[in-house]
Amino acid sequence: MSVSPMRLHGKRAFITGAGGGIGRATAEKFAREGAAVICADLHAGPAEATVAAIRAAGGRAATVIGNLTHEAACTAMFAEGAAMFGGIDIIFNNAGICLGEDSGPVETPLPIWDATIAANLTSVFLCCKAGIPYLEAAGGGVIINNASIVALVGSAFPQIAYTAAKGGVLSMTREIAIMYARKKIRAVAICPGPTATPLVNVFLADEEAWALRRRYLPMGRLAQPAEIANVVAFLASDEASFITGAAYPIDGGLTSAYVIDDSA
Ligand SMILES: NC(=O)c1ccc[n+]([C@@H]2O[C@H](COP(=O)([O-])OP(=O)(O)OC[C@H]3O[C@@H](n4cnc5c(N)ncnc54)[C@H](O)[C@@H]3O)[C@@H](O)[C@H]2O)c1
Repeated sequence: MSVSPMRLHGKRAFITGAGGGIGRATAEKFAREGAAVICADLHAGPAEATVAAIRAAGGRAATVIGNLTHEAACTAMFAEGAAMFGGIDIIFNNAGICLGEDSGPVETPLPIWDATIAANLTSVFLCCKAGIPYLEAAGGGVIINNASIVALVGSAFPQIAYTAAKGGVLSMTREIAIMYARKKIRAVAICPGPTATPLVNVFLADEEAWALRRRYLPMGRLAQPAEIANVVAFLASDEASFITGAAYPIDGGLTSAYVIDDSA
């Protein structure tokens, strides 16, 4: 028996939205597991804060800044990131937005639909388009796409554009998994439930909104970003070598629920 090394030792990971809640937690987890982390985000400040935290803990990380909904920016960000650490082995497509005006199909303005689809679905397509050649050059790799429970179940408190985008992410993940299975590239989706990050604050701004949502959470609480990051690190590692095309709920039981006893 040998003592196992860090699970992502020697890997180079491109993480989008690395300045945000789940992205930052995952970047820090990946770095602790030995990966060099390329922290991609629209905003320099939050991404630099992620990098600073990783470096302070002795890890390796750097930022690439740009808008992942634009093909030229996306291509440039992957080229810059790959040049920093000599290639890319793992892509975590995590960047996304939720807009307050995203509601039902009748109410949602078209510009809100377009912006939501661009940030949550088109960006994942563009990152796969720009990033897969680097995984192929590395002899294989892993793509993990951050979808959501709303890709699996519907909600009567709708965000129709967000839901449609996340459903698209799930379908795209399956297709890429099958296309590249024999090229040693795995593709997996995660479907987190509500997680304590700035993004959900849009929907939990007041006590009434939180009370309404809490009723439907079997554990009665949000996920912490680290609880999502732990699963992503496993899926990115060689321990998950036979997992591709799958969708992983990380939801505290939410998608298993029919009736919830919320008296506790
Ligand atoms: N928080 C939740 O409850 C929850 C649940 C399920 C899925 N998710 C998904 O997890 C992902 C991360 O969410 P979070 O809660 O950490 O959000 P967050 O708002 O904390 O972080 C998102 C990050 O993505 C970046 N980003 C957004 N658009 C971008 C673009 N066009 N180009 C580059 N960067 C961009 C933002 O700047 C931000 O740093 C999202 O895809 C979200 O849909 C979140």
